[in-house]
Amino acid sequence: MSQPSGLYIQLFSVHGLIRGVSPELGRDADTGGQVQYVLELARALAERPEVAQVDLVTRLISDKALSKDYARVIEPLSDKARIVRIQCGGRRYIRKELLWPHLDEFVDKNLKFIKSSGRVPDIFHGHYADGGYVARELASIFGSPFIFTGHSMGRHKKDKLLQEGATSEEINRRYHIDYRIEVEERVIRATEQIITSTTHEIEQQYGLYRNFEAGRYAVIPPGVDVDVFYPYYNCQLDPDVADEASKQARMLLLNELHRFWVSPQKPFILALCRPDQRKNISGLITAYGENKNLQAIANLAIFAGIRKNISEMEENERNVLTEMLLLMDRYDLYGKLAIPKKHDFSLEVPELYRLCADSHGVFVNPALLEPFGLTLIEAAAAGLPIIATKEGGPSDIIGNCENGTLIDPTNSDEIGEACIKILVDRELWEFYSHNGINGVREHYSWESHCARTIELIRKVQDEMPQAKSVSEPPRVSIGRRLTTVKRLLITDIDNTLVGDDDSLAQLLDILARNKDNIGWGVATGRCLERVLDALAEYGVPAPDIIISSVGTEIYYGADFTPDKGWQQHLAYQWKPEIIREELQKLEKMGIVNAQDDEDQRPFKVSYYLEDDPELLSKVHQALQARKIRYNLEFSNSQFLDILPYRASKGKAVRYLSYKWGIPLPEIMVCGDSGNDKEMLKGDTCGLVVGNYSKELESLKGLRRMYFSGEEYAAGIIDGISHYRFTEV
Ligand code: GLC
Ligand code: MG
Repeated sequence: MSQPSGLYIQLFSVHGLIRGVSPELGRDADTGGQVQYVLELARALAERPEVAQVDLVTRLISDKALSKDYARVIEPLSDKARIVRIQCGGRRYIRKELLWPHLDEFVDKNLKFIKSSGRVPDIFHGHYADGGYVARELASIFGSPFIFTGHSMGRHKKDKLLQEGATSEEINRRYHIDYRIEVEERVIRATEQIITSTTHEIEQQYGLYRNFEAGRYAVIPPGVDVDVFYPYYNCQLDPDVADEASKQARMLLLNELHRFWVSPQKPFILALCRPDQRKNISGLITAYGENKNLQAIANLAIFAGIRKNISEMEENERNVLTEMLLLMDRYDLYGKLAIPKKHDFSLEVPELYRLCADSHGVFVNPALLEPFGLTLIEAAAAGLPIIATKEGGPSDIIGNCENGTLIDPTNSDEIGEACIKILVDRELWEFYSHNGINGVREHYSWESHCARTIELIRKVQDEMPQAKSVSEPPRVSIGRRLTTVKRLLITDIDNTLVGDDDSLAQLLDILARNKDNIGWGVATGRCLERVLDALAEYGVPAPDIIISSVGTEIYYGADFTPDKGWQQHLAYQWKPEIIREELQKLEKMGIVNAQDDEDQRPFKVSYYLEDDPELLSKVHQALQARKIRYNLEFSNSQFLDILPYRASKGKAVRYLSYKWGIPLPEIMVCGDSGNDKEMLKGDTCGLVVGNYSKELESLKGLRRMYFSGEEYAAGIIDGISHYRFTEV
């Protein structure tokens, strides 16, 4: 594969609804801040000169209830950035907690995509636990580094839900939270670098994990779009910069606000958040209500989401909004407090900040805990001084920008006084305003975010083992190898690969000489341990692929990494308990005999059976009576294997062809006996060695089926020249 210069980055953000044009942020719980984050990140990374290509890889969804946009396989975002959609777990939209069992399918299909696009990413970047899982799998397959951005973490969420009174069982039933937490533990341990938005996140979220110490952390806050959140007009030289849309937005906002205020010329204090108890809106109204001085200086405006009929809203929201109205009444804030109801103001938000800045007001975030504080940064970009909770991320913002005051959200006096201090001191106001505008551009632009991310990626790449020593050839990862080779040779072991030492040595030599083009593997009834015994006994080096236990297990490379996608695939409708139960009954009746424990595998139940069609049909009858699906293989006149119906050596070969993008005609399959039959048939190049057993007679004359006159490995060598297999 050619490797054009420049980094190729794959970002994984698996769940939710992602599209480049008008993303449906807030449509559901899975389509929120993270979607915006990854879209902006993908575009901004692609702007960097060091970057050749950015893929934002997400789930493909084809669902009548949703836009067709989510079913497009490729959606360009810019010259060098695109969304790549990979189907997994069917096509319907499902919530993120239900995606776990389908992530291996996602990994496999992305592998295929990588193969077909002809280039292996230099780095994988997982977002959220599900994206982290995918990134980790791919990184281990390709021997590439991976980085991780958690966005939010399971342990923290679980603690919160427990505090709210939910039981562990309930939380797991709904959110599969313990599984997610275990995935996060493994990701933290394995990833080269974790990126967080705040220092607070490192301590409060990652700090809860067993593997916390094993992680490496960097605080790189996300950027805001400074083309949208630009400064207020009074501070700009040219007041005509406001476009038509901004002017309209301003009109709309003014109309709305002036319905509430008797003195609209005053500066105003602005708060903008979801109606959530933790956002502490009541704390701010109380601070304002108790401070007559503050009421004389400024109005207050609270934008707390869209409300229709409060009494029909969900409990938490209903409580927040009701309390808001009661406080307004208690402190008699009529004429001073604006709590706009009707509109969805999301499009007007940038203009709202500018309007507030033009009034020389302040932006307040009084949350009991604010993980990051994106609104604070957006408000600052527009030139608003900020007053923010000291709990959570905002201390980073004020630390970086020096553009406001931190307050204790539970202390209403402190909130009121902090507002007054800025509102009455124009010099201080200007100082904070300018610091905010400039500080955001320095610390919270996507440009600076990406510059730091690329720096980290370079560092991580330099530290990867294969780059360490120049003298030692790099150990090519199995993923890179299998996406680069053009052909595969798969051979049975007993009586095919082994049996004649001289020709075996010659064959291994041919494979070594052609290793850049031809990958090779074994496919056998033996379990992994017995495969390794055989390889050691005959002095065969580890193959690229081991298909063991009659195709129910697949392993890769020198570390024998198991193929999880295959396990996942086989698990479907596999009921080994029922099969064992039935066979035990047959054993008591003296019909079958159990094989060794070593040969009983997660996806293989093995017995001995006499070569008698009547006995065999008894086995079928017993299994069919239980109405289960299975694949029965009887071989060498004695071995009885019951496998998942999706399993066999032949199906494993087809799965490999699909997964690694190697067409079947480019795969040569070699065998000698009955249990090789199925994998020999079909579009692959079939090779039967001269010493074959009678069960294979029926394959004679089939297309792409070569019966060699030579025995054992010499037969394979003969087949290689018959198919001109080394001439790629
Ligand atoms: C190997 C395995 C055995 C299996 C047989 C046929 O001998 O050890 O468990 O039944 O192959 O597939
Ligand atoms: Mg054999």
